[in-house]
Amino acid sequence: LFAGPVDFVKGVVAMDGLPPADRPEVCFAGRSNVGKSSLINALTGRKGLARASNTPGRTQEINYFALGEQAYLVDLPGYGFAKAPVAVVAKWQALLKNYLAGRATLRRAFALIDSRHGVKEVDHEIMKLLDRSAVPFQVVLTKTDKIGREALAKVIQQVEDELQKHPAAYPELVVTSSDKGEGIATLRAIIAGLD
Ligand code: GTP
Ligand code: MG
Repeated sequence: LFAGPVDFVKGVVAMDGLPPADRPEVCFAGRSNVGKSSLINALTGRKGLARASNTPGRTQEINYFALGEQAYLVDLPGYGFAKAPVAVVAKWQALLKNYLAGRATLRRAFALIDSRHGVKEVDHEIMKLLDRSAVPFQVVLTKTDKIGREALAKVIQQVEDELQKHPAAYPELVVTSSDKGEGIATLRAIIAGLD
């Protein structure tokens, strides 16, 4: 699945702008700056594909990337803190919620958690939304190159405890570093196994 071409399709700002629901898709959700766009770049091996930046709130649309004609990877705007006006943020948050609750071809949501920060209240809220919408989700820990193995073990425990509360959650989490490549092959295999 990841061996073929990958293309940016479009940035979507409203539900009626979503591409036709004609193939499976997975999405990447998480707080602003958690590393969603960087993860898509690492998965596709295309550094500048999804725009990553140190400014939280970089991705302001639902960005669709096509893996050949077989599947979509969907980069979502971050939730939580973002350097953007309140009204703008409120608009993307509404779009994000409608998308997560209403996309028939969404096979799995990856819920990204920064391994330095663990699960925050906003993450818990998004996971509850995924439960309510019955969207199967899996946690991906990001930026593991930034912490030691002991701290990593602790955050894994915290996430596993949190996941007990969520019926839509997969129990296994994926530990990644987009910078160092950790877990990227594993995540590719998970996505390739979905369709
Ligand atoms: P928004 O679009 O603002 O919601 O952010 P995002 O979740 O798409 O995060 P993005 O990929 O833009 O990354 C945010 C910052 O974290 C950038 O400066 C990245 O270079 C950095 N970053 C992302 N992944 C990693 C990683 O695995 N390791 C390290 N060290 N830095 C990372
Ligand atoms: Mg982004």
